[in-house]
Amino acid sequence: MKDDELKQACAKAALTFIEDGTVIGLGGGSTVSYLIGYIKESGINVKVVTPSFKTRMLCLKSGLNVLHTGSVSKLAVAFDGCDEVDEDFNALKSGGGIHTREKLVARMADRYILLADAGKVVNHLTFQKPVVLEVLEDALAYTEAEAVRLGGRAVLRRSEAKDGYTATEDGNPLLDIFFSHVDNISELQLQLKSIPGVVETSLFTEEVTDVLIAAEDGISWLSK
Ligand code: 5RP
Repeated sequence: MKDDELKQACAKAALTFIEDGTVIGLGGGSTVSYLIGYIKESGINVKVVTPSFKTRMLCLKSGLNVLHTGSVSKLAVAFDGCDEVDEDFNALKSGGGIHTREKLVARMADRYILLADAGKVVNHLTFQKPVVLEVLEDALAYTEAEAVRLGGRAVLRRSEAKDGYTATEDGNPLLDIFFSHVDNISELQLQLKSIPGVVETSLFTEEVTDVLIAAEDGISWLSK
């Protein structure tokens, strides 16, 4: 099966977790995009909260009702993609730089279900991709120094447009922190989060409740 077919299979399986008449969370990424198509096709009536501009646009195009995130405090379920997830339900998200809002939506949900193909599921997070920190601009140099103290290497996400750095929708810069190996993932999360000026990290150590995994031989489901 091609990668896209695995993502579609995963998104289709996610439909069984959605109840008619509920408010659900949808994160970012291509698997979530497929899920939006299946929700539309199924005719299930849901309202959506999303941290992702692209997902918001896709939902609106599909006729799904999107609520303002700030007006919602509780969701029955939220779905998201990830870059990597391990057997202890730690997940690393990196690419989109919208992890602060993604984590907020994850925390609102009774169940935060990651949609992943088997290649993303590992015994212990490998950190081949960086941990991303959304930080206040004033905290950039201090956070870089702290990241080095914790054994990482910090790289500012750059853009030609906005003052030389890529800004989140909330106007903050992003630091990609590369680690070669991390033994205690929860401790790292606490250490990074406690740096003054760090808004949020892209390490999800407490939020994930379920992982739907698509592989060549079918869909499997891990639940905490
Ligand atoms: C970005 C993420 C995305 O949710 C993830 O990359 C999406 O993956 P896919 O496109 O394979 O569904 O974590 O930070």
